[in-house]
This record gives sequence, structure tokens and C-alpha cells, in this order.
Amino acid sequence: MKDTILSVALLLAFIFLLGPTWAAEEVSFPAQRSLNQLESNYRQSVINGWRMFQTSFAGDGIACVNCHLNHDQMIGWAGGYPKVEVFDGTPYSVKTLRQVVLETLATHTDLPKSRREAMADDLAAYISWWGDGQLVTPGMSRDTKPALMDLDELAISASSGNNLFYRDGSSRCNSCHGVANKISGEGKIPLKRSFATFPKYDVNLKRVVTLDSFLTTHLAEHAGIKDREQITALAAYLADLARGENLRPGTLRANNLRSNMNAN
Ligand code: HEC
Ligand code: HEC
Repeated sequence: MKDTILSVALLLAFIFLLGPTWAAEEVSFPAQRSLNQLESNYRQSVINGWRMFQTSFAGDGIACVNCHLNHDQMIGWAGGYPKVEVFDGTPYSVKTLRQVVLETLATHTDLPKSRREAMADDLAAYISWWGDGQLVTPGMSRDTKPALMDLDELAISASSGNNLFYRDGSSRCNSCHGVANKISGEGKIPLKRSFATFPKYDVNLKRVVTLDSFLTTHLAEHAGIKDREQITALAAYLADLARGENLRPGTLRANNLRSNMNAN
């Protein structure tokens, strides 16, 4: 009898504690969009990545899906990067989702580097679709809490990205960009939500790119930045800016949309 009362009490406490959390989550996470609701270039990239995820490119016949069967497990991945993620033998450092996908491709496939590089953005696009609607939570990609040391490492990276953003000289990001939600009075391109809109179609590269790939060409061109660590740091800063925003990969910037329409 005592046991029954105890378990009922525990059950009630459980419902009481978790109930409001569930309710809050329902409000803050819009549903994952279906494939046909996605921007068409992004949709194609998701489908390519999906196929890769299901296909083995290794002698042992193992594909990504053999270990990552449960898609629910993947919903926190896209919004959790950049962050520290270490596999057997990979370096302890802050990495973008693309960098980690490249590490998994190196471990789990027999493909040459050029093929792996060519696949990474589509795989990241597919993974990001499972995060569609979820919140940007840099450093946290799964239910278990990350090590404090990892979060510290991320904070250091994001703050060095912040410094780079406002660095003096012709390469200053903030000569062309603002960190607000809207275009500023000076016509600066807003970056507040930018992180949450990648991977997406790039009109210059004519393919779907991760934020990492976009920054790699954009920063070399506009800021003379080619250093891997600095690119990751700026990605970490942009993720921090977008913290708490809903992920909507594939969302084009307004004038991107226009040039897209002209091209069609
Ligand atoms: C042999 C099993 C195995 C295969 C094959 C595999 N993975 Fe994983 N992967 C894991 C394990 C285990 C983890 C750690 C997950 C955890 O601790 O929650 C992981 C973690 C990850 C993460 C990091 C998740 C996070 O929380 O940040 C990504 C991204 C990932 N895998 C992508 C892939 C991709 C893409 C492929 C295919 C190229 C792949 N994996 C193939 C076992 C595998
Ligand atoms: C000379 C002006 C200029 C400078 C300097 C510049 N950018 Fe840009 N940036 C642009 C333009 C123009 C676009 C939009 C066109 C495009 O997609 O290439 C853009 C687009 C972006 C985007 C994508 C926005 C989106 O949501 O689609 C990001 C992110 C970005 N810039 C980050 C940076 C960072 C970080 C720096 C500094 C290291 C930087 N930019 C420096 C002009 C600049």
C-alpha cells in the first residue's frame, strides 16, 4: 500500500514537473516542414544527402543510417553547432557541423578526400532538415549536458569571432553588416538570424552551401580571412547571435530570391 502511494506520488510529481516543459516546447518549436515546403534547391540537396546517409561507401557495408537509425536523435544536431565534438583520434577543438560530418566521412567511408568534401554540404543539409523548426542552441546537440570545458572552449571561440567581426581595417564585417534583425539605416545587411537560414542556395557558387562553406569563400573575398580557426570562430559568433531563433534552413535572402527568379 505504502509503495502504491509512493509511486502515485512520484508519478504526479513527474507529470507536474514535466508537464509545463512539454507545453512550452510545443509552443516554441514549429513543426518540421515537409520536403515540398522547402526551397527547391535546398530540397534537392536534402534528398541527395538523404540518399548518401542511407548508402554505404565502405567495404564493411555500413552506412550512416546503420548507426543513426532514429531520426529523433538527430533533431538537436544542426542547432548545436559549432561545438566541441571529438571522435576517436579527432582533435579537441570547436568545429562546425560540416567539419564533424567530414570527420564521420573519413571514419566511416573509403572515399578519397575530394569525394568526401563534395558530399559534406548535402549531408549537412539533410541533417539540418531534421533540425527544422528547432532552436539554435550552440554547444548543445543532445539531451545529455556537454562538459563545461567544451562550453568554455566554445565561448572562447565565439568571443574571438566577435573580435574579428569588429576588427578595425578594411576587412571589418560591420562595415557591410549589422547584427540586428532588419536592414539598418545605413543599408547594412542584417546577420541576426543568418545562422538559422543555412544550409541554403548560394547564387554565386550555384549550389547549396553550409554556413561554413559560404564563409570560406565569402571571408576570403571580403575580409582576407582564410584561417580555419578564424572561420569557425566567426561561425560560432554568428550561431551565438542567432541563439534561440528557430532553424529554417534553405531560407534565401530577399535579393537572392530576386536574382533566382530572374534566372528562371
Ligand atoms: C559505426 C557507427 C556509426 C556510423 C557508421 C556513423 N556514426 Fe555518427 N556517430 C556515432 C556515434 C556512436 C556518435 C556519438 C553519438 C552520441 O554520443 O550521442 C556519432 C555522432 C555523430 C554526430 C555528432 C552528433 C552530435 O550530437 O553532435 C554526427 C553529426 C554524426 N555522427 C554523423 C554521421 C554521419 C554523417 C555518418 C555517415 C557518414 C555517421 N555519423 C556514421 C556512430 C556512427
Ligand atoms: C564589402 C562588404 C562586405 C564585407 C566586408 C563582408 N560582407 Fe558578408 N555579405 C556581403 C554581401 C553583399 C552579402 C550578400 C551577398 C552574398 O550572398 O554574397 C553578404 C552575406 C553574408 C552572409 C550571409 C547572409 C545571409 O543570411 O544570407 C554572412 C553570414 C556574412 N556575409 C558574413 C560576413 C562576415 C562574418 C564578414 C566579416 C569577416 C563579412 N560578411 C564581411 C558583404 C560584405
